[in-house]
Amino acid sequence: MRENEPIRFDEYRQVWDVFRYEDVKTVLEKKDIFSSNRSRNAEREKSPIEQSLISIDPPKHTAMRSLVNQAFTPKAMKSWEPRIVRIADDLLRPLQPGSEIEVVEALTYPLPVLVIAELMGVPSDDQAKFKEWSDWVVAGPKDNSPEELQKLAQNQMRTYQELHNYFAGIIEKKKLDPADDIISVLTASSIDGEKLTDEEIIGFCILLLVAGNETTTNLLSNTLYSFMEYPDQYRKVKNDPDRFLKTAVEEGLRFRSPVQSMSRLTKEDVVLSGQHIPKGSFVFAWMGSANRDETIFKDAHTFMIDRKPNPHLAFGKGIHFCLGSPLARMEAEIVLKGWMDKFPDFRLSSSHELNPIESTFVYGLKELKI
Ligand code: HEM
Repeated sequence: MRENEPIRFDEYRQVWDVFRYEDVKTVLEKKDIFSSNRSRNAEREKSPIEQSLISIDPPKHTAMRSLVNQAFTPKAMKSWEPRIVRIADDLLRPLQPGSEIEVVEALTYPLPVLVIAELMGVPSDDQAKFKEWSDWVVAGPKDNSPEELQKLAQNQMRTYQELHNYFAGIIEKKKLDPADDIISVLTASSIDGEKLTDEEIIGFCILLLVAGNETTTNLLSNTLYSFMEYPDQYRKVKNDPDRFLKTAVEEGLRFRSPVQSMSRLTKEDVVLSGQHIPKGSFVFAWMGSANRDETIFKDAHTFMIDRKPNPHLAFGKGIHFCLGSPLARMEAEIVLKGWMDKFPDFRLSSSHELNPIESTFVYGLKELKI
């Protein structure tokens, strides 16, 4: 597609697909032309995600991002490190070298949910319930039948309601008795006297579940899978993690990008790679394709853990660049280091059939038996 049809109109989905690196970057960066406010129907507009940071444009986006940014400072990040190490250790400890391990269930799925629950200050007694809600928020339909879609929508609306009530209670507690967690910071943060409303904090908390859990799970599972596919690269990073661990995580993000595409709505007519796209069009920027663009990445289809430079677009680009990227990177470095220490060699289980997640948006495996 990058060579023959870099911009194509998909009749079935009624959207424009953009495949080349430079075009994908343009769509993500040019916020005045490509809007993130893209809800198509009134029902969806009511969902907390449609009103959250990821779905709004400046000036509202600028104000809200500076407020929520206060919970993701480098200082906060440093203080989270020991807590993430503890969670990773607790999950890695029961895993036995030499036996079959389904790593999605045992490690890569629970890790980000437990981390975000801990960082939000959710009491540990509530963490099982929290995980269940988090599953519903990101659940996809089993099939495309109207009954299934309706059932899913109802369950999700009910979950949003339960999460709403739950977070409202936590916010009240944190206002009276602030602790070292994201929700306490959000209730206290202000810029020029502007504060986040309780509704905005709740919407942001729900966004964190959607934006940060499945993505991080897939980064971890995809990178472990790539290590098995390229054992020489695994040996290299394992033998010198101080030198190669960070670049290996970046290559994991590029090579099998957890988020394959992001959508935008055009606010005016625009031309990309010679193709005219009218105002009011849906545009899908395919980061998964951009990250394999041969004109930008030498040997783009090879996993090379020491690739430098590596200007991948896996976390997006421009004003919506992933707010949680430092956290996702830190989680990946901690878990992969723990994994390498415990499993110097590992391979795909012989009984294993690879089942990709059915989505055009997220890229990963439903399970991974090692
Ligand atoms: C935004 C990817 C982990 C929170 C984004 C965007 C991408 C992305 C591509 C840009 C969306 C756009 O341009 O419309 C990823 C990947 C992750 C990851 C690949 C893991 C490997 C996380 C984590 C958190 C998080 C752990 C927080 C706990 C957010 C938020 C935004 C965002 C709040 C919206 C930022 C804004 O609109 O200004 N992420 N993400 N993400 N991500 Fe992540």
